[in-house]
Amino acid sequence: MQILPTVAELRAWSRTTQRSGATVGLVPTMGALHAGHLSLVRAALTQGDRVIVSIFVNPTQFGPNEDFARYPRTFDADCALLEAEGVEAVFAPAIEEMYPSGAATFVEVEGLSGRLDGQSRPGHFRGVATVVAKLFAATEPTRAYFGQKDAAQVAVLRHMVADLLLPVELFVCPIVREADGLAMSSRNRYLSATERADALALSRAIQAGQSAFAAGQRTTEAICAAARLELTRSSAVRVDYVALVDWTTLLPAEQARAGDLLAVAAWLGATRLIDNCILGD
Ligand code: PAF
Repeated sequence: MQILPTVAELRAWSRTTQRSGATVGLVPTMGALHAGHLSLVRAALTQGDRVIVSIFVNPTQFGPNEDFARYPRTFDADCALLEAEGVEAVFAPAIEEMYPSGAATFVEVEGLSGRLDGQSRPGHFRGVATVVAKLFAATEPTRAYFGQKDAAQVAVLRHMVADLLLPVELFVCPIVREADGLAMSSRNRYLSATERADALALSRAIQAGQSAFAAGQRTTEAICAAARLELTRSSAVRVDYVALVDWTTLLPAEQARAGDLLAVAAWLGATRLIDNCILGD
């Protein structure tokens, strides 16, 4: 497995690969890999792609008081996992490679960037869209793979790809959960044993909303209330948001319909976690 630290090497690898007739599948990550990331890699391999994974903790998507400095960095373990999966190359740039001195261009998907996590984390989606646009420009992948766990991010990136006429196909893979239902996340490793137990409120909230919809409930407020009730059962859980939205616009759903996104975000101590489902899935 090749480790490519520069954009020039990434570009050369991708162009040589595509000139040989192969398709390139890009899996963008910030490292601290878990089974959710590996499911993206497997999806890419199943499509027949030669797979490149980027590992870059992107500073522009973290707010000033967020966890950029303490975000887990487990590069050697990540590479061992990726090599075992059959990944051909890892793009692992330094910050200056992605943001050369004087970099002044950012990508903002207006409207969407301020909704859901974008409302709680101002600037977050601007950072995500910017770095993903750069990764696409440098890799020119045939396909790129993202997890539904970051459903609002998916909506922002789909919109960006359409607006900027980018020739890449986005694939969204299902949320991968621990046996007890907790959605896998690199941030789960921040949780204490008690917080880990309390964190199950998020997946319970999602299940409650999904069950209410399955039982015929179509009122947005009632579905959100069912989810919120689960979150508020433990006083250790601080709710950030519970929202039922159209997955394309991220605007509140007037009435619940199959395909709408039910999303929750909550704090367990200093750790913010998210979870979601697509109604009717
Ligand atoms: O989902 C993530 O891990 C990040 O937001 C991404 C897409 C790799 C951009 O930094």
